[in-house]
Amino acid sequence: MEMLKKLFVTLIVLQFVSCQSDDSSDYKAIDLSERLYAGGGTTLFSVTSNAYRTPAPNLAAADMAMHLMGDVDFESVFVTAPSSINQGLGPIFNNSSCISCHPRDGRAPFPTLLSARSGLLLRTSMFGTDEHGGPVAVPGFGVQLQNQAIFGYKPEVTYSVIFTEIKETLADGTVITLRKPAFSIANSYMPMPGGAMLSPRIGPPVFGLGLLEAIPETDILAMQDIADADGNGISGKANYVWDPLLRQTILGRFGWKANTGTIRSQCAAAYVEDMGITNVIFDKETGHGQSNGSDGLGDDPELAAAILDQVVLYCKTLAVPAPRGIENKQVKDGAAIFEKIACAQCHKPQQKTGYSEISAISFQTFYPYTDMLLHDMGDGLADNRPDFLAGGSEWKTRPLWGIGLTQLVNGHTDFLHDGRAKNLTEAILWHGGEAQQSKEKFKQLSKKDREALLAFLNSL
Ligand code: HEC
Ligand code: HEC
Repeated sequence: MEMLKKLFVTLIVLQFVSCQSDDSSDYKAIDLSERLYAGGGTTLFSVTSNAYRTPAPNLAAADMAMHLMGDVDFESVFVTAPSSINQGLGPIFNNSSCISCHPRDGRAPFPTLLSARSGLLLRTSMFGTDEHGGPVAVPGFGVQLQNQAIFGYKPEVTYSVIFTEIKETLADGTVITLRKPAFSIANSYMPMPGGAMLSPRIGPPVFGLGLLEAIPETDILAMQDIADADGNGISGKANYVWDPLLRQTILGRFGWKANTGTIRSQCAAAYVEDMGITNVIFDKETGHGQSNGSDGLGDDPELAAAILDQVVLYCKTLAVPAPRGIENKQVKDGAAIFEKIACAQCHKPQQKTGYSEISAISFQTFYPYTDMLLHDMGDGLADNRPDFLAGGSEWKTRPLWGIGLTQLVNGHTDFLHDGRAKNLTEAILWHGGEAQQSKEKFKQLSKKDREALLAFLNSL
């Protein structure tokens, strides 16, 4: 009831706003009303700082019970043994809980101090591909650099960053200064082989993922245009990755380069690589060179299988926040501009799920604004480290759902794979490669149109 009342008030306010700015626009009107259910039946209609961390409202009772247990697991802080609960952190790690890198199930800020625990990690690998077509582990270091360690061990490396400034001038004369980060490592516990490549990644939001996992593979492949047959400058290609649990190559869906195939593998890898918690999929500690890489407790796997199940279900069943202000003229204009300057070519508004054993996400129509495909985003965003089929400048189109709530939920607006962009405008100005034309068109927009586009993004 309370919620309905709020919705009403919002609608009235929006009506009012739209009457005030009814000057004509040459954009084809887009009916956003169908997109109100951004997560299909999993949509959440409440605008609070809990918007990313609320269970889907349509969960079956048994799924809800397990979700609530997963919620606790996601927040569990692991500590050094011996401890009565959650022991086994390390010997080397990046952070000590899921929530520490996915704050309020949202996005980590760009770290203020790279030597401290944060939501940013560096992946690494040598030139070439391993026997499964994936990144080649760096001898003694693996494929992720842990910059923290428990007592008696050394972190693999310490991280640092320097910035160079790049200026972009918009058509109306506004000058935006972008900061390009260059990450480096020092103090390695043993000499690092020359030629190791680095890829910075920041913890992204984790809601709505069950829906993305349940999009039929054929639908994703149908959106590919590898050779750019339609000649619009935008191709799009699926990643195919080795899945350590299924022990086969499958479609990549998660991670900034679609470098992981399933939420289960992503979560299991997070436990072992990010926190040093061994589990049923990864039963060996990652401290490669030190004391046989073990924390010496002889307790592997450290994580009960049931906890992995709970946390996986949790990540699959978080509600998706509904867009706000979809009747607002400015927002509607923004949606039309989003299409006109080809943002929607990659950030595809609508997707559908097929069957899922979780009834809440089965056969849903939803609005994530992603094609789940890799795109060449140009030199500016390149990490120059391939990840399965993803090249050094290719990234997966990020879903844009919920993006307008980042400030409310996380208290910052640091976007892109390493959190370099300070706001939406900067995020767009970093687009290059296949998105270069889109970015140029964005720069040409009048102030009014630019603000409409941003209002649309902020409505998501
Ligand atoms: C040290 C920080 C850190 C910790 C701790 C961490 N994550 Fe992550 N998480 C990340 C980063 C960075 C990515 C993106 C990885 C990539 O691009 O390869 C990610 C990606 C994910 C994704 C995929 C999201 C998407 O949209 O593709 C899921 C799901 C996830 N993490 C769940 C978890 C769970 C569950 C835990 C706890 C067991 C956890 N994470 C712990 C940093 C972290
Ligand atoms: C060629 C495909 C493509 C086009 C066209 C494109 N994008 Fe993107 N977009 C991406 C990819 C890929 C990323 C992730 C890049 C990264 O993190 O390095 C991204 C990231 C973003 C982000 C940051 C999301 C986040 O979670 O950090 C925003 C905002 C965004 N795009 C908005 C837009 C807008 C607005 C347009 C139109 C002006 C647009 N994009 C056009 C592919 C595209």
